[in-house]
Amino acid sequence: MSARAPYGEETCAAATNGRYRVVERRSFGRYALLTLLAPGVAAVARPGQFVMAAVPGAAFHLRRPLSIHSVQGDRLRLLVEPRGEGTTELAAAGVAETLALAGPLGNGFPLGDVTEALLVGGGIGVAPLQAAADALRARGVPATAAFGFRDAEQARLAGAFEIADLWVATDDGSVGRRATAVELAARVGAGPGTTVLTCGPAPMLAAVRAWAAAAGLSGFASLEAHMACGTGACHGCVVATTEGYLRVCVEGPVFPFDLLAVPAGEEAS
Ligand code: FES
Repeated sequence: MSARAPYGEETCAAATNGRYRVVERRSFGRYALLTLLAPGVAAVARPGQFVMAAVPGAAFHLRRPLSIHSVQGDRLRLLVEPRGEGTTELAAAGVAETLALAGPLGNGFPLGDVTEALLVGGGIGVAPLQAAADALRARGVPATAAFGFRDAEQARLAGAFEIADLWVATDDGSVGRRATAVELAARVGAGPGTTVLTCGPAPMLAAVRAWAAAAGLSGFASLEAHMACGTGACHGCVVATTEGYLRVCVEGPVFPFDLLAVPAGEEAS
């Protein structure tokens, strides 16, 4: 499939379809970090890309989109929140079980010109930021992470990350500072030229974009969307941009801040 990408990344070109074995499973509260032996996917995956995944033979057969948390050699890590039937089955997958995956999909974060980064994540949206941090660290690029969670249970997700400069806040103050992700990001701060990379629920992304604009920072947001096909066929995942409606699964999930249309009401904030 040829796909238009807003800033030059070729998408889906290297995607494969296969079944891969779970070789490690770690629990962080209700969240699961699954490690799969998936050399074909791991070899070509870029930070910010995702896979469509399902448990073969399970009652819920539709594949669900999961961000690639990280890659280590020929292994792929996926951080799973049991939200609905499909993700609950995926999160329960044990060692030696097999998952059906299509991927890697989407465009990923364009990190080539990044010289300093602030990674801002909220909830399960933090998932792809480990891969971004790993890629930046490999190039010697300084990166700070500010993660916001609802409460102590959700903050257990932070245990799935290995980022040296990681700050955590919760809405109820039960872990870290009592703050939202964007309030934490503002407190951590970012110097001129810092690129903001963010992923999380839509209201959080809008707040991060507004803060970054006020601070004179550019950045990229990885959007969450309901996805049926994950490959551009159904148009069920479109998002309004300054260049019209684009598909999150193919032209995204990562979009430059200035490409995203301003949500109603944000202009006044
Ligand atoms: Fe079908 Fe994006 S999920 S086009």
